[in-house]
Amino acid sequence: MFSRLIKPQTVAVLHNNAKNICTSSQRNAKVAVCGASGGIGQPLSLLLKQSPLVTELSLYDIVHTPGVAADLSHIDTFSKVTGYNGPEQLKDALKGADIVIIPAGVPRKPGMTRDDLFNTNASIVRDLAAACAEACPKALIGIISNPVNSTVPIASEVLQKAGVYDPNRVFGVTTLDVVRANAFIGHGKGIDPTTVNCPVVGGHSGVTIIPLISQCKPAVTFEKAALKALTERIQEAGTEVVKAKAGAGSATLSMAHAGAKFTFSLCRALKGEQNVIECAFVRSNITEAKYFSTPLLLGPNGIQKNLGLGQLSDFESELLKAAIPELKKNIQKGEDFVNKK
Ligand code: 2OP
Repeated sequence: MFSRLIKPQTVAVLHNNAKNICTSSQRNAKVAVCGASGGIGQPLSLLLKQSPLVTELSLYDIVHTPGVAADLSHIDTFSKVTGYNGPEQLKDALKGADIVIIPAGVPRKPGMTRDDLFNTNASIVRDLAAACAEACPKALIGIISNPVNSTVPIASEVLQKAGVYDPNRVFGVTTLDVVRANAFIGHGKGIDPTTVNCPVVGGHSGVTIIPLISQCKPAVTFEKAALKALTERIQEAGTEVVKAKAGAGSATLSMAHAGAKFTFSLCRALKGEQNVIECAFVRSNITEAKYFSTPLLLGPNGIQKNLGLGQLSDFESELLKAAIPELKKNIQKGEDFVNKK
């Protein structure tokens, strides 16, 4: 009787929910967000709270975390939310984390480059990495805090000094560059952006961002001038948002979406799902730069295989040439920050 009153579509929804509840009752990942009260941290935590891939959501920040955690904990999804406020609670926040995502730090204002954030964000990432080394040395760590080209080397050096560095477990989150490339290509060509996959390699600032449009799936073609304009738009997309926000910060919502997408891929890889591939900025021997983003096959221990650059067009080879010196400089600056103190 009851089932006859339910439309077929509703039955499908109930069925899916039931499936989600079953999945949720297994233990999935404990994810810690460091910087959870901030402009990226709050929407990122909201997106993570939606997914049964996350069993425990541990929110850390230096202010306002009890409020953010109380608010999110009223959402009727499976995961348990806990808030930790202030440095004295940091290690408790990280204890048992499978994944740590770090959006902590200050954002850009108009006229600033990501490198201009170095002085403030470098020490924030250093201290968070040091806490990870003690509290969750085996966690997969995703760093969003800018300048990513330098903060990933900073975290890596800190973990190395602590004797727990595993290059397969430390990632600079560059997913937003891929998300933007997919969006611009999809909307520009009239293709559903969710079906577009354009790898973006290199780093996460200006000329170090290298979209590989020749490898886009589905394949797309552009005339020379249009290809150059699209490439430059992807490289400067963060600045486009900074300018549009006119002093109120940088990308937060699209970055939260990208951060969640990357985190869910890590969760799937941890569960043993096959063929999980994401681009991320990692320790690398693919180019002369010590850290470099390329598509990575992810597994339960982080990077399972670096899938490399593939075949580059002449235009992309030139972009790569232009990126390397800037990348090397950014990487050196991060390493020096940890080592020359
Ligand atoms: C961006 O690309 C915030 O780095 C971030 O917009």
